[in-house]
Amino acid sequence: MSKNAPIAFIDSGVGGLPYLQWVKDKLPLENFYYLADSKNFPYGEKSQSEIVDLVLNAVKQLNSKGNPKLLVIACNTASVTALDSVRRILNIPVVGVVPAVKSAAELSENKRIGVLATKRTVQGAYLQDLIKDFAPTCHVEKVSGSGIVRFVENDYLKSDNLRINLIIEDAVLQFREAGVDTVVLGCTHFIYITDQLKKQMGEKIRIVDSRNGVGRQIIHILKENDLFSDNKTDDCFYCTAESSAESYRLFAKMFGLEYCGVIA
Ligand code: DGL
Repeated sequence: MSKNAPIAFIDSGVGGLPYLQWVKDKLPLENFYYLADSKNFPYGEKSQSEIVDLVLNAVKQLNSKGNPKLLVIACNTASVTALDSVRRILNIPVVGVVPAVKSAAELSENKRIGVLATKRTVQGAYLQDLIKDFAPTCHVEKVSGSGIVRFVENDYLKSDNLRINLIIEDAVLQFREAGVDTVVLGCTHFIYITDQLKKQMGEKIRIVDSRNGVGRQIIHILKENDLFSDNKTDDCFYCTAESSAESYRLFAKMFGLEYCGVIA
């Protein structure tokens, strides 16, 4: 496997970009390509078997652009549903993104934590198992934020703080009523609303996501396999439907990627 091959990131939309950014900041010589499966957005409203098929198909499409050396499923919904299936069929390392329940349970002082995720993640067995394994003594308030996912994907770039506060209002209320002191962002799209969530919840509330853990795992795998790149080329952003081209162009630019259009 070539060490200068790209690291591939996939998500249903723009959620995985902050994860890519974390790695890019730490490893500036790495090459990346990113696939937003916009045609099938949102994953969080689909059934388990649909998501497995979609993720396998997205991986196939990405491979047609050149084989990556590592795949990051930068989507909690896809990871908790399809990680095992993807790992079984690919012969490259696959890193998933799952809700940071363990970190939250360690950080929480009152042992009351909130998890904000998609409907599929909230209802799935994977999250239940994470809670059982890593937060057995915590009260966990699970909130499904499907409206926030759609908002980030479609309207975030043209919205002000007021609008964002309105969109997150219900989730904030539920977490406040449950008395949580730590909130897990269990969907990659929610990284974009971290600041507003923190402001609305109060500065004392901790908001956690999985970027550090995922990023460190990627670095570890590259190191173990002697796969650090030494030749930087362009990074590409692909999508599977042109419908949001304008906003995707802007998102790609924000994260230093070239917008390369619909993947063939
Ligand atoms: N970004 C995805 C996640 O982390 C979900 C978005 C969707 O519902 O498609 O779960």
